[in-house]
Formats: sequence, structure tokens, C-alpha cells
Amino acid sequence: MTGEAALYNNLDLSFAEARRLIEAGAQSRHAAAHHPVVATIGSDGGPSQRVMILRHVGWQERSLRFHTDARSTKLDDLTNNSAASVLIYDPEPKIQLRLSGSAVVHREGAAVDAAWSQSTNFARRCYLAEQAPGVVVEQPTSGLPESVEGRQPDDAELAPARDNFAILLFTFHTLEWLYLANSGHRRARWQWDSGAADWRGHWLAP
Ligand SMILES: Cc1cc2nc3c(=O)[nH]c(=O)nc-3n(C[C@H](O)[C@H](O)[C@H](O)COP(=O)(O)O)c2cc1C
Repeated sequence: MTGEAALYNNLDLSFAEARRLIEAGAQSRHAAAHHPVVATIGSDGGPSQRVMILRHVGWQERSLRFHTDARSTKLDDLTNNSAASVLIYDPEPKIQLRLSGSAVVHREGAAVDAAWSQSTNFARRCYLAEQAPGVVVEQPTSGLPESVEGRQPDDAELAPARDNFAILLFTFHTLEWLYLANSGHRRARWQWDSGAADWRGHWLAP
């Protein structure tokens, strides 16, 4: 991290560093924020978590975009309860970021078409899976049709996969920061103030 001493006791610089770490997740597959944990509330009322790849950050909209299979359980979770949370831990600067908000899933529309067209054929291949993710099967399987196992399908072969593709848009209103340091941890929370259209931050006891 650059300027650690400066941000250690500075709320604005800590916020700027949180933003930088989150945005890096969509820009580099080597960034810790590239594979956050996304949590939803299951239909039984319990928490449900999974790792997802962060595809895009819209800082002004406070949104994170993920791609998923439209038949996956997380869609049912979000239909019942849109509450969601995203967790990132970057071990190098020892910073945990916890984002709270809600999420919606889209299967149609310009944003979904754009995300689909920007995906590689290897990435799109996942959506050719014959059964919904999580379905009980008799034999160990990738779920993919045999014809595309071990190779990249062409555009024509991928046509049926588009129906199974969805984007998950997570919008956050709270951002929490925990910075582990030998000299004493630092914890802070910023809350989106919709009236002022700005973030309001406070230090917290770690
Ligand atoms: C490194 C890694 C990256 C993953 N990326 C995604 C992803 O971008 N989208 C996704 O839906 N699932 C992704 N998964 C799989 C999910 O963690 C999860 O197993 C799957 O989405 C089913 O979750 P659900 O049953 O809660 O819907 C990834 C898993 C790992 C380990």
C-alpha cells in the first residue's frame, strides 16, 4: 500500500484506499478484490455465501457487477430477499472490506447483452451446462455437453448458452473498513447519505 502512515489515522484517505482496492478487483485478476465473497439470504432464512468474480465497478452508482447462471440458487435467494453483502480481504495490506446493500439479477436488456458479448467463448461455455447448478447427479460431471468438453466452443455452439446467462448487480449503501496493524487496528464505516448524495464516515472501535 502507498502512504500507509498517512491513511492510518485519516478517514478520507482510508476511504480512497478502500475505493482503489475495490476498483482494482475489476481491473486485475491478480487483485484480491477480483474474487470477493457474495452473501445472500437463503430461502430457509439462513446465510448463503459464494465466491464470485468481480466484473465491473460503477463507483458513482455504488454498484458491482457479477456474472452468473440464471438457474442458480442465488437467484431464488434474491427473488425472496434482495439483501446482499460482499466481503473482500486483501492479505497484502491486511484490509477487510465489508459492503452491505441489495442485489438484483437481470437476464435481458442492453447491459446483459453487452456483458455477454464482452465474455470470451471459454467463459460463455459454462452456460452450456445441461442441468442447473446444484442439481443432484448420479455421476461426477462438469455438467457440460460432451461435445464441448476440453475445448472452446464456437459462436454457433454457444447460441443456447445465452438463455442461461445473467448479470447480478449489487448496490451498496454501507462500506466497512478493517485495517489490521501491529501498531493498533483501525476500523471505520461509511454510510451513503442519499439526501446529501455523499458518503458519511465514522471511526469504529475495532
Ligand atoms: C474462484 C471462483 C470463482 C467463481 N466465480 C463465479 C462467478 O463469477 N459467478 C458465479 O455464479 N459463480 C462463481 N463461482 C462459483 C460459486 O462460488 C458458486 O459455487 C456457484 O455460483 C453456485 O452458487 P449458488 O448455488 O449459491 O447459486 C466461483 C467459484 C470460485 C471458487
